[in-house]
Amino acid sequence: VRRELLTVGRSEPRKDALEKVTGAARYVADLPADGALWAAVLRSPHHSARVVSLRTGRARRAPGVAAVVTAADVPGERCYAAIIADQPALAGEVVRHKGEPVALVVARTREAARSALGLVEVEYQELPAVLDPVAALEPGAPAVHPGGNLLTRYQFTTGDPDAAFAVADLVLEETFRVQRVAPGALEPEACLARWEDDGSLTLWVSSQKPFSDRRNVAAVLGLPEERVRVLSAVVGGAFGGKEDSGIAVLAGLAAWASRGTVRLVNDRWESFLAHPKRHPAVIRYRLAARRDGTLLAADVVSHLDTGAYASYGPAVAGIFTESLTGAYRIPAVRVDTRLAYTHTPFSGAFRGFGGPQAHFAVEGMVDLLAARLSLDPLEVRRRNAVGPGDRHYTGVPLDRSARSVGRILSELERARERLRRVEPAPGRRAGVGVSLSVQSMGLGAHVPDDSTARLVWLPDGRVAVRAGSPDLGQGLGVASEQVAAEALGLPCARVVTLPLDTAASPDGGVTCASRMTYLTGNALRAAAALLSARLVEAAAGVVGRPAAELRYQAGEVLLPGGGRLAAAEVAARLAQGGGRLAAEATASFPYPPERTPQEYPAGIPHVLHTFGGQVARVEVDPELGTVAVTHVVAVHDVGKAVNPAAVEGQIEGAVAQGIGYALSEDMPLKPGGEWVDGFTEYLLPTARDVPRIECVLVEEPDDFGPWGAKGVGEMGVAPTAPAVAGAIHDAVGVRLTRLPASPEAVRGEAGQATR
Ligand code: MOS
Repeated sequence: VRRELLTVGRSEPRKDALEKVTGAARYVADLPADGALWAAVLRSPHHSARVVSLRTGRARRAPGVAAVVTAADVPGERCYAAIIADQPALAGEVVRHKGEPVALVVARTREAARSALGLVEVEYQELPAVLDPVAALEPGAPAVHPGGNLLTRYQFTTGDPDAAFAVADLVLEETFRVQRVAPGALEPEACLARWEDDGSLTLWVSSQKPFSDRRNVAAVLGLPEERVRVLSAVVGGAFGGKEDSGIAVLAGLAAWASRGTVRLVNDRWESFLAHPKRHPAVIRYRLAARRDGTLLAADVVSHLDTGAYASYGPAVAGIFTESLTGAYRIPAVRVDTRLAYTHTPFSGAFRGFGGPQAHFAVEGMVDLLAARLSLDPLEVRRRNAVGPGDRHYTGVPLDRSARSVGRILSELERARERLRRVEPAPGRRAGVGVSLSVQSMGLGAHVPDDSTARLVWLPDGRVAVRAGSPDLGQGLGVASEQVAAEALGLPCARVVTLPLDTAASPDGGVTCASRMTYLTGNALRAAAALLSARLVEAAAGVVGRPAAELRYQAGEVLLPGGGRLAAAEVAARLAQGGGRLAAEATASFPYPPERTPQEYPAGIPHVLHTFGGQVARVEVDPELGTVAVTHVVAVHDVGKAVNPAAVEGQIEGAVAQGIGYALSEDMPLKPGGEWVDGFTEYLLPTARDVPRIECVLVEEPDDFGPWGAKGVGEMGVAPTAPAVAGAIHDAVGVRLTRLPASPEAVRGEAGQATR
């Protein structure tokens, strides 16, 4: 018999909600620290230059200055790593992008630190710069790194694309260009670092990966890892942009150099320049099809701009490359993805991780095909969508994950018919577009992909989750509490998540890749089983009976003869003797060899996919070329919504980011040679730009996820821009091939779009 679920599946309120909405929550910048110094970072004014000389004497003597740090002072490794250690803590002989850190000033106040930056004397010899990923790979391009500008190349072929193109009724070719976008977390990156009297270092950092930060800070300072302790405070959004250790490394250096407590908080412009963006890409897509719309082959050559440093670029390029066939069955595929270094602020992790770029291209091709064949775009999708018997082009079987696709298609159709009946405002043209999408979960094959979590039964009767990965604001805390509570048969209110502290928490890995509820959830389920077994053992000792005669149930131990012993009492007795009722478990992402093709580079393929799709309705002002998104219906297979309100929140936020990607967000180089680096020019959607988003949660349980849950953190972003582009085409007949949609393109002016 299946018992009714206690808390999983219910929209439990988040325990951090009240403090956040009242403003009481303490982000890193708010943490009290008596006598804390401030750090400020001198940043390169050039895209590419040699540092001829660097003099710090005047800055060191300035009022209030405690320390000035340059590359020459770095005591340990000069570079830190996301994947490869190519990123200097502070630039040495060369600078590779505008905004690269060159020197660090520590002073009594933020103002003193900033004004002393002007006293650091740097002489640069400007060098030629390359700012475009295609140009970067041409012969004679200025080399960003000594090894050349090609960081990673993925070339995969499945089936016989040449033969398929030769027999196809129709061959389409289009080139798609997508822009550089910034995660735009409302809390910029921040770190408070304290040098301790015993020569160790404590940091509070707004980060997705405190354990990696600890490793990177220790390496740059030449300290053993156990002398660095990282704590996470409240995180005000991250979206991938806090998968970089730069802020912790610089704050750590500042605290070490001043032997003090130092606060470093990025300004908004620093956040744009110094943290990962979504990779700009140029995608040349050739598609072969039969007259009836059946897809036969894809041949895709892509250039991705990873900027001056690798960050997670190679991994992003992996998911990008895997996502190029979208949710479709394409029997012959050739992909060639080139990830190029350029002299631009680095790209890296950003929610969707390559998926949004790839989907703009593949969904654009499917819409183009439908138009060429005068077929319904949804019908073309239905004919080609993967189903349970299919494999991804990498060879990964989709049997389990693709079960939901049919249901998603019918929900999309129903939503589309409804939105088509909405009348446009006078003078506006309405259009409705659809998209289908796939998002993977996890870090990919042959990459350590696990997460550890711990449960502790507190003497007051509550159970504490010792999280190993930070909650970024997405609600990992409440999901963890619900899973642990369900597994222990307790109400959610009895479980509480403790903040992450590398000195006290197990390593949960990076909060990323839509993997936390899935992995942390499974770790907690396993930990709960261990915890209740330990409780029974301990209770057996208390009552002097064999453990086999006792049974755990809902926070109590049932004793032979009908008595009960509360877990709190057992925990309290253990605590008196200095003991503790705790259990820890690790969950690993499943990459069973028989389902995981082995011929790919590390990190490829991903083996767990989740499908979705969206319908967008727009109203276009045909004279101005402005676009308002009036409705979005988002249909996603979430496996099992552990907390439906939180899942809908994830999808709504992702759609808002997708609308920004489609219509307004862009971080170009301005005519004066500066990057767009503030929210006056970088147009994040506001509440006025985001319509009410209807979420349709499809629940096709995963075999491994907790109660069937799948990762929901990223899935909502990729399908939005293609659905908006399809809606614009439906409204005014203009097909977008670049993002964001400019008014010129929407007006159909030459050179901006194809009709
Ligand atoms: Mo990420 S883009 O936080 O996997």
